[in-house]
Amino acid sequence: MEPKLYTAIDLGSSRVICVSGFEKTAGEIELVGVGMSTSSGVDRGSLTNPRLAADSLRLAVHQVEQQLSGPVTNAYFGVSGPGISTFNSIGSYSLPHSLSKITGQDVTRATDAACSAGIPSSTEFIHIIPSSYAVDGHWAPNPPIGEQGSKVEVKTHMVTGDSATLKTLARTAEGARIRLAALVYKPIASGVAVLRRGEIDKGVILADIGSNTTDVAVFINGSIATSFSIPVGGYHISNDLAVSLGASLSDAEDLKKNHGHAVPKLVEETELVSLRRHGETALVQVKRKLAAGLIRDRLEELFTMIARVVEQEGLSIKQPAGIVLTGGSSKLTGIADMAHAYLDIPARIGLPHANVNGRQVNDPAYSSAIGTIMWFTNPDFGDARRGLSIGQGSFSTRFKGWIREVLPV
Ligand SMILES: Nc1ncnc2c1ncn2[C@@H]1O[C@H](COP(=O)(O)OP(=O)(O)OP(=O)(O)O)[C@@H](O)[C@H]1O
Ligand SMILES: [Mg+2]
Repeated sequence: MEPKLYTAIDLGSSRVICVSGFEKTAGEIELVGVGMSTSSGVDRGSLTNPRLAADSLRLAVHQVEQQLSGPVTNAYFGVSGPGISTFNSIGSYSLPHSLSKITGQDVTRATDAACSAGIPSSTEFIHIIPSSYAVDGHWAPNPPIGEQGSKVEVKTHMVTGDSATLKTLARTAEGARIRLAALVYKPIASGVAVLRRGEIDKGVILADIGSNTTDVAVFINGSIATSFSIPVGGYHISNDLAVSLGASLSDAEDLKKNHGHAVPKLVEETELVSLRRHGETALVQVKRKLAAGLIRDRLEELFTMIARVVEQEGLSIKQPAGIVLTGGSSKLTGIADMAHAYLDIPARIGLPHANVNGRQVNDPAYSSAIGTIMWFTNPDFGDARRGLSIGQGSFSTRFKGWIREVLPV
């Protein structure tokens, strides 16, 4: 039998990434193709021109098809940004007889109740992820199947998509001759690609800092406590540099990538970088420290926003395993040191570890695409993908099991 081909696509604000792989053994994927193209038709995370977006999608897919010597016809997609919402909800179910043994069905009923919390009819569920369970008010991370009690409660994290947004994505995929197979929320995918099992057990914040969006997920006790997107990313840093230094956006982008630094005090007063001012031909010299100050200011704003949303969700920003930064903007020099000093928590860069035909792909811009393929190929995520199927070996248990088995220590 021909091995099954899996493909994942991350249609980002700045680029489209496509990765494909064949299943070697159950749940183990061998990546055999990777493609990247510049995105068009995407404005601040929204698909504003599906036809243009389809063209850029096709370019990335075409690169993979050449490596495979065969067609890609369907793919899993990551989603985030405008049109995608997340919220936590608690559902409960009272057992008909007090002190009866709790079954998987009782847990399902409590989860169903959490889902019926009234989402608009124009919205679809993408994930329903139970994170903890209570029997008569006593909370624990695992489903209480077999325990005795009179009331079961389930805390769930939900990700929903606005139907029109999801239809536009499906239409864009079709425009590139790709059938959209299923969706994963990007911060979850990035977390799957770069986190270590000890981190998600202890408590960790994942931030995928892209171009226009920062996708955040908080993992605690081996499950997901919350996730959200913030409309700030590397584009805003480049734009600040362009406006303040009087340069074009593309020159500011080059300055950021080649000479940017997130910690001004680590830059010498004497360090100068050359820059062309708008409308001028001659180069001028600007202090690298000045550029670093602008970068630091924007990052402080971003980390403040992250901390505020985490705290609004009733969680602490001071997670024991700190913050793990990934996405293209995590390549900014000094960003982990800056996050560590500013948030006063451990900080590291999370790189995906994938091997595509003998070539290492560990660029943090690929985390979400690589995590998407991992999410859809590991059988232990089965219940999570179906969302509502709870019972023996519920999502929460499997999610933790999966993380423990698959993630590096
Ligand atoms: N070496 C570098 N130093 C600093 N920033 C970098 C570097 N390389 C890339 N970036 C920034 O990374 C960003 C792109 O990251 P990424 O590829 O993760 O974005 P995306 O997924 O397309 O965007 P989004 O997630 O917002 O939809 C750009 O803002 C780019 O300037
Ligand atoms: Mg991205």
